[in-house]
Amino acid sequence: MTGWLVTGAGGMLGTDLVAALTSRGEPVTGLDRARLDVTDAAAVTDAIARCRPDVVVNCAAWTAVDDAEASEEQALAVNGGGAANVAAACARFGARLVQVSTDYVFAGDAGRPYAEDDVPAPRTAYGRTKLVGERAVLGRLPGSGYVVRTAWLYGAHGPSFARTMIKLEDQRPTVDVVDDQRGQPTWAVDVARQITALVDAAAAPGIYHATSSGEATWFELAREIFGLLGADAARVRPIPSSALPTLAPRPAYSVLGHGAWTGPGILPIGEWRTALRRAFPGLLAAQRAAAAAG
Ligand SMILES: NC(=O)c1ccc[n+]([C@@H]2O[C@H](COP(=O)([O-])OP(=O)(O)OC[C@H]3O[C@@H](n4cnc5c(N)ncnc54)[C@H](OP(=O)(O)O)[C@@H]3O)[C@@H](O)[C@H]2O)c1
Repeated sequence: MTGWLVTGAGGMLGTDLVAALTSRGEPVTGLDRARLDVTDAAAVTDAIARCRPDVVVNCAAWTAVDDAEASEEQALAVNGGGAANVAAACARFGARLVQVSTDYVFAGDAGRPYAEDDVPAPRTAYGRTKLVGERAVLGRLPGSGYVVRTAWLYGAHGPSFARTMIKLEDQRPTVDVVDDQRGQPTWAVDVARQITALVDAAAAPGIYHATSSGEATWFELAREIFGLLGADAARVRPIPSSALPTLAPRPAYSVLGHGAWTGPGILPIGEWRTALRRAFPGLLAAQRAAAAAG
């Protein structure tokens, strides 16, 4: 039996990962930010010394992409420094480490899916800080470090584009959504499953891409969600990104390839529409509960 420690356990992915491990009967300690701040090196060492996990999954992150532009140092402290602290403690106590990362390490302007070994070229402060975290983990744990990049995440336990669309369908006659950014909508539960599969398989250390297959624009995703709600998809209208400026530039093409999974013989996450259909009842219930709670 594998002992797990999950940092950032109060977040969207961390919550689903702890739930998945618990339902498998695995011994898991989930520490949210209040219980473990990953920027505190001594606290990280102490937590890992006490828990002595076989595997640590670092789900703690500064995820506010736009805010990171003006606060890169603070974002770096979490995404770079925090990851380095966790990696150092894992090296000291012989734990494997899964560092969760992002498509934003790439430039986002390719014409084909990014491979795991494509050269990163982040265009945002968030992407730069996450890349520092990746390098800290792979540098310190060459034999036992994994970087699992994901993108366009949605889940029942936190805000996401998918939940926002469920809310807006209820509130607005029409919704304008950008139609010139392509990516892979991905369910946090599927990412949790890929992480556990990597560890179960004792896969080779390195970089893996945990995103759904296929690709969509935000507009296409919104229309799919309206369809699942039984609403008229024509109420979702396409707009260009230029109509909705953001502090951090959004990638036009952020599709990730899944070649690395063939090494350990693990199936990549399937097609995004299939995953969304499976996730949808949980998303809807969570959004309705949030609305009822005000
Ligand atoms: N969401 C996406 O679309 C997406 C896309 C690509 C990659 N990712 C990556 O996926 C991973 C999980 O993200 P998520 O979507 O689950 O985001 P999330 O819901 O924002 O979870 C991140 C968690 O980290 C916590 N945290 C922040 N600073 C911390 C610190 N110093 N010490 C300990 N915990 C800290 C946050 O706590 P507070 O809420 O209290 O700040 C939050 O609970 C991250 O590595 C993220 O970069 C996410």
